[in-house]
Amino acid sequence: MDDVKADGAPPAVSMDRIVELCKRRGFVFQSSEIYGGIGSTWDYGPLGVELKRNVKEIWWQDNVRVRDDMVGLDAAILMNARVWEASGHVESFTDPLVDCKECKQRFRATDLDGDKCPACGGDLTEMRQFNTMFKTFVGPVEEEAAIAWLRPETAQGIFVNFKNVQNTTRKKLPFGIAQIGKAFRNEITTGNFIFRTREFEQMEIEYFVMPGTDEEWYTRWIEERRGWYLKYAIKPERLRLRPHDADELAFYSKGTTDIEYLFPFGWSELEGIANRTDYDIRRHMECSGENMAYFDEATGESVIPYVIEPSGGVDRSLLAFLVDAYHEEMVRGEKRTVLRFHKALAPVKVAVLPLLRNRPEIVEMAKAIAAELRPVMSTMYDDTASIGRLYRRQDEIGTLWCVTVDVQSLDDKQVTIRDRDTMEQIRVPVKEVKPLLIEKLNS
Ligand code: GAP
Repeated sequence: MDDVKADGAPPAVSMDRIVELCKRRGFVFQSSEIYGGIGSTWDYGPLGVELKRNVKEIWWQDNVRVRDDMVGLDAAILMNARVWEASGHVESFTDPLVDCKECKQRFRATDLDGDKCPACGGDLTEMRQFNTMFKTFVGPVEEEAAIAWLRPETAQGIFVNFKNVQNTTRKKLPFGIAQIGKAFRNEITTGNFIFRTREFEQMEIEYFVMPGTDEEWYTRWIEERRGWYLKYAIKPERLRLRPHDADELAFYSKGTTDIEYLFPFGWSELEGIANRTDYDIRRHMECSGENMAYFDEATGESVIPYVIEPSGGVDRSLLAFLVDAYHEEMVRGEKRTVLRFHKALAPVKVAVLPLLRNRPEIVEMAKAIAAELRPVMSTMYDDTASIGRLYRRQDEIGTLWCVTVDVQSLDDKQVTIRDRDTMEQIRVPVKEVKPLLIEKLNS
């Protein structure tokens, strides 16, 4: 585990600028905005949903599809309440809280410096533990027996299905189960846009290993996951590993290392890799009475596997990819804003633009090219401004290529392809556009 400390400069963009761009271009909107919003909850717009799908797609591709030792799962959000008693969340998934007696605002005790309310200077209540799981009730009656919790992590859906998955896939240790899904936490300290929200998505792996090999797998997964962010163009100097001190370990963890990114607001966690030992399987065996041990054919013994858990956030990764891609430069005396997304992440791969929008033959040709590209890659057609402006709009959302149809195209059946990063333009026969872009995308 070398290169534990990186020391880069934060992205040259403020969070205000990112939030503004996300709203103006349709990446992220405030939830329920017309009613004044709801704290720390966001909606992904047309471009945001494409970007988010791409984040999940590359994660699934790299962690499940190309690996022989991984399988996927999609467990329900609502689970039997006993799951959360067994896992320790009912008792221990808490934040230390204080309330202001005057303005009634609530704070996490560890965030405060003094013993007065930072908002109004009022007196604070005694500290108490506040469970951050959202409680709800199944069925029409609100009673203890009907309690259900919105899951605060996707992990438990994996643990309770360990035997189902192992029996049906016949996987041998070591192997992992991956899941992407929503999780909910009634966070007290929220903020920094989509970084910490009450509803978010996790990408989690529970990797089951033979006891005794856990340390080795813990180290391997830290490197594997760090490499994943670098593969998708996160700048190495803005990525670092931070092993947890003993006093900050979660109640189930023997060791945890965070992968941190240097956001505009400072170094913050993108993902945690934890050695959860055999805690979860053992607890579910005790509480359910089911035998979930793994039978090792090689030794003829039953073992309770240890678990290494790389657990990342979709929204946080997306935010890191977004701010890391943000770039401003001067081109011929004008500021150009460009999102230099990795090609797998770019929400729009190609835009088809007519040079003259009042020439029906040009518009028709451009629309035909867009229609041909649409089934094979995310394609946008735009004829609502001058070409210079159209290019700037596409740069600002990170579109990889712009295909421009001009007057000459009508005669020579060739179009121009402009590259987002180099701004170089090449002239290509119309019939070669699709195979060429497919090749570029897959290379
Ligand atoms: N199963 C382990 C677990 O849930 P965690 O460190 O609490 O561990 C894992 O969460 C990841 O989920 C974090 O690294 C982060 O990316 C994401 N995450 C956690 N809480 C979040 C929140 N309130 N908003 C957005 N993402 C969050």
